Amino acid sequence: MSGTISALLYLVSGVCFIMALRGLSSPETARQGNFFGMAGMVVAIGTTLALPSVLSYETIILGIVIGGAIGTLIARRIEMTALPQLVAAFHSLVGLAACFVAVAAFFKPEAYGIGVPGLPGAIGTASLIEMSLGLAIGAITFTGSIVAFGKLQGLVTGRPLVFPMQHPLNAVLGIVVFVMIGWLIADQNPTAFWLIFAVSLALGFLLILPIGGADMPVVVSMLNSYSGWAACGIGFTLSNSLLIVTGALVGSSGAILSYIMCKGMNRSFFNVILGGFGGETAAAAGGPGGDRSVKSGSAEDAAFIMDNASSVVIVPGYGMAVAQAQHALREMGDILKKGGVTVRYAIHPVAGRMPGHMNVLLAEANVPYDEVLELEEINRDFAQTDVAFVIGANDVTNPAAKTDPTSPIYGMPILDVEKAKTVLFVKRSMASGYAGVDNELFFRDNTMMLFGDAKKMCEEIVKSLEH
Ligand code: TAP
Repeated sequence: MSGTISALLYLVSGVCFIMALRGLSSPETARQGNFFGMAGMVVAIGTTLALPSVLSYETIILGIVIGGAIGTLIARRIEMTALPQLVAAFHSLVGLAACFVAVAAFFKPEAYGIGVPGLPGAIGTASLIEMSLGLAIGAITFTGSIVAFGKLQGLVTGRPLVFPMQHPLNAVLGIVVFVMIGWLIADQNPTAFWLIFAVSLALGFLLILPIGGADMPVVVSMLNSYSGWAACGIGFTLSNSLLIVTGALVGSSGAILSYIMCKGMNRSFFNVILGGFGGETAAAAGGPGGDRSVKSGSAEDAAFIMDNASSVVIVPGYGMAVAQAQHALREMGDILKKGGVTVRYAIHPVAGRMPGHMNVLLAEANVPYDEVLELEEINRDFAQTDVAFVIGANDVTNPAAKTDPTSPIYGMPILDVEKAKTVLFVKRSMASGYAGVDNELFFRDNTMMLFGDAKKMCEEIVKSLEH
């Protein structure tokens, strides 16, 4: 295949990837976006395989078969709630791939077209810069993603692991990486190369370890961004324009997503990176509040209250995802609507465990998009709402975010469910949410706790409403 044709086809797949990102920005167009992404990837792989520089089809096909089989198996088995850790695990592989390419190119520069003519083994300065950056970012992404995976999977504590002099140590290691990059560029020394690799591995580990609690989603999206920049670095090393474009797309979209999430939690990016958030002790098992009593009710009580309301706002959270209650919930909403109740859904930007988590589940249950509103669109309406039906959500409703400067979630915008005439909380116990902080709302006069599994509770409410 000629260089012009491959460049043109790479341009086509680059445009497909941009269309994919555009489509994925809304649940209505997400399917179409996915289609563009897949089409772009088919064109990209086909074009790359037709390049004259391909040395062994056998190795590539073996890789595709093994990787494709593992990927298909994981995709079929993975639970929706485990997607964040899966994404973290996949990012670690992108980081590792960047490191492998850097190692191969460093020791065999001629094979990658980055050698200096007439000087066997020598690598051009620009290539050394790209390669060392790809190596450093790749190594940081690799170990950082492994720690993120361990935390989200519950293999390592999700709480921040902090120790004295952590930030100065990280700063020193960061400086060492830059000094080693300078050394590598100056005389292509293999010791400098391996030191960049080793110190970056340690840095990735140490950077993510102190981050915990509710900051993990930002970390995953930040690592997504890093993996994109690492791929971009490899693209320069391999002189592959599509890898450069795709890496830059992933890098910048991950960075924008991190920014949006920081805004959603009202936290600065540096604050997140410097870590230590969510280290407070979780509410003791059995729940917050000591001897304080709460008002609890049954599915029948909830059905009666909502049936007699004129407006209900449903606030889904992580518990709805765990219980897979979205279908029963939609059924409940449909019955209420038939009875003349206005039903809407309020989505907090960080409800659940990944961006768009609640939107995806509600879309899966065929909840009409126009009933699903974002925090800014619905928050003012709670004051005129009869019932806020909070199902498996906790932190995203916690008023401590507004009133308690010592709370780890202080400053995070919340859904003002407390302003509704009645607040119904569906959850199994008095336990705290992800950030490990008590929720004062459970004890309010206008709150009724509906203890039980979210799906079962919805099914029982549906039964009561039908009677
Ligand atoms: P959480 O504050 O984590 O609260 C979820 C609640 O669901 C828990 O209090 C739990 O109480 C209840 N629950 C669990 N399983 C249930 C079940 N089967 N049936 C009924 N209830 C169940 O959730 P949220 O309000 O959605 O807030 C999300 C939190 O996660 C935020 O702190 C956010 O920063 C963080 N986070 C977000 C993301 C993204 S990007 N969305 C990613 C990682 C972390 P019981 O145990 O008493 O049932």
